[in-house]
Amino acid sequence: MSKVLTVNYEGKPCYDIVLDDSFGALKERVAELGFEGRKICIVTDTNVKPLYSDDIMNLLEPISSAIYTYAIPAGEANKNLGEIEKVYEFLIERHFDRHDLIVALGGGVVGDMAGFVAASFLRGIAFIQVPTTLLAQADSSIGGKTGVDFNGYKNMVGAFYMPKLVYMNLSTLKTLDGRQYASGFAEIMKHGLIKNEKFYIWLIDHIYEINDKDPDTLIEMLYESCTVKKNVVEKDPTEKGDRALLNFGHTLGHAIEKHCNFELFHGECVALGCIAASFISWKRELISKEDYYEIRDMFVPFNLPISVENIDIDEVIKLTKSDKKADSNTIKFVLLKKIGKAFIDTTVTEDEMRKALEEILWVEDDE
Ligand code: GLY
Repeated sequence: MSKVLTVNYEGKPCYDIVLDDSFGALKERVAELGFEGRKICIVTDTNVKPLYSDDIMNLLEPISSAIYTYAIPAGEANKNLGEIEKVYEFLIERHFDRHDLIVALGGGVVGDMAGFVAASFLRGIAFIQVPTTLLAQADSSIGGKTGVDFNGYKNMVGAFYMPKLVYMNLSTLKTLDGRQYASGFAEIMKHGLIKNEKFYIWLIDHIYEINDKDPDTLIEMLYESCTVKKNVVEKDPTEKGDRALLNFGHTLGHAIEKHCNFELFHGECVALGCIAASFISWKRELISKEDYYEIRDMFVPFNLPISVENIDIDEVIKLTKSDKKADSNTIKFVLLKKIGKAFIDTTVTEDEMRKALEEILWVEDDE
């Protein structure tokens, strides 16, 4: 079974998101896009290279004039301009020109970096996203955000640059580590919470199938999740307004992630951030107490944390102010009007944040 969504950009069809259970249709897709006879560079990382790079090389080799793989050392610590320069050098040495193609194969870090290389090399060369983690499939491969971290700030340098195709082989999820899978799921849950209550309920009703990675459930789940993301980025591709709704759970989530020195996964911090933002929404009487507790507790069966230990609340609050998403001195918070309806609010106080962080702070019981 396969499904396709088309993402529009500036009112015109721009790229397809293909959801499939193999890499089988990738060659045909790449040829259809006009890259037959062109050079291809698969940009991946050292973790993903041994898993899928040979498969993709063998698949695309018959239609390309020359195909190469470049592996960035795995991990967020390498998401920097120094590593980008090395990819430029690799492409220059192999005489890549503006008509050739980059294939971003891997998780969110690879997608952002390969996309940034594509956006900037020769003022822009085509790229396609082949995301292999749930986080990249649900979130980062869609919408054209590319970039690197800079001086300790996440995604500080980058560009909006659209891929020519997003090709998801959902069977890659079978071998994905459990924590990584749960981390990606947090972004999916977020999509239900901000835009689609029916989808949120569907997720709760399919806990077992989702945790078992049942193929039909996965394709349906990602189709609905990608539809939310597609609709948001189509309306506001460069985050002038509503795209910021996708940052639900990210204001405090990013601050916790940084405070914990990236020892917690991104999605784990997003889950904590979603709980904190839902708590503030409840305290403002926007959602009910029952809704709040349901949201919080629903992260548990999906193997996501609902509390965190050893955080310094003042430090976390301080970090929210240095986040790129803070507009000069105003913190853009995303709250829930109801489940499935989020809005941007710039009036959340330090006191509200403190109480929300106290709610998720795990304190050992003395008794
Ligand atoms: N990950 C949020 C966005 O793409 O805007």
